[in-house]
Amino acid sequence: MTSLRNAPIGIFDSGLGGLTVLRALQKQMPCESTLFVADQAHVPYGGRPLAEVQGFAEAISSALFAKGCKAVVMACNISSATALSQVQSSFPGKIAMGTIAQGALEAASVTCNGHVGVLATEGTVKSRAFTAALNSIRAGLEVTEVACPRFVPIVEEGRANTEEAFHAAEEYIARLRANEVDTVVLGCTHYPFLLPALQKAAPFVQWVDPAQPLAEKLQRELNVAGLAAEQKTESRNVYYTTADPDRLRQQSALFLNCDAASLCVRSAYWQEGVLHLP
Ligand code: DGL
Repeated sequence: MTSLRNAPIGIFDSGLGGLTVLRALQKQMPCESTLFVADQAHVPYGGRPLAEVQGFAEAISSALFAKGCKAVVMACNISSATALSQVQSSFPGKIAMGTIAQGALEAASVTCNGHVGVLATEGTVKSRAFTAALNSIRAGLEVTEVACPRFVPIVEEGRANTEEAFHAAEEYIARLRANEVDTVVLGCTHYPFLLPALQKAAPFVQWVDPAQPLAEKLQRELNVAGLAAEQKTESRNVYYTTADPDRLRQQSALFLNCDAASLCVRSAYWQEGVLHLP
């Protein structure tokens, strides 16, 4: 059991959004090792057919379990919406978690007026996964989902703190205004990068980022399964990208506020639908 306890947690996203979840996991469980995959060859996932995203998410999850991960976290809402239940049934006895249930639980508990907004990618909105999760937690919640296709490219290209980001935020927030939401879920893991712009565009709503409740839930599950890393363990974090490793190194160091040279960044590659993590 010791070796499995010290096995890494696999985390993935289409790109930089996954870092917002990775950061919460590292803060919550500093002794845990991680294998992070950013599928930047395919970012953005949001406008792609749901079946295609499901295929990517299942293949990445398989690669992470094959690499010895003790748990896989889909740090990606559209992957969670399309592939989580399939991955959970394909890997019985393994821990596989996504963002949507935790985001919905948090939003249902903080809303005062019962009107919840969800900002997400086109695919996640199309799946209606947040509406279904919120309604299953609390019947009668009024849910408004808004697709925000401009956001992910803004984040991936390093323009989160610009006027362009603020104008995009204003455009999407305007679509929530009529419904008097008091709580808005960041339904895409890239969006916490845009929180300053979003807060400026909508200062009076409560923002829900699923990352922290997800980290806490994973910690509870690892403890129950006897799989939490031993406290003396020194964590090891490896970052994979399916695009340019130098770019991911710079982007991750900037976001995680650490020395780029200290990060272990590797190339991953796709071959006939299989993801290889050398
Ligand atoms: N960050 C992902 C999500 O939470 C995917 C964003 C994208 O690639 O469109 O849905």
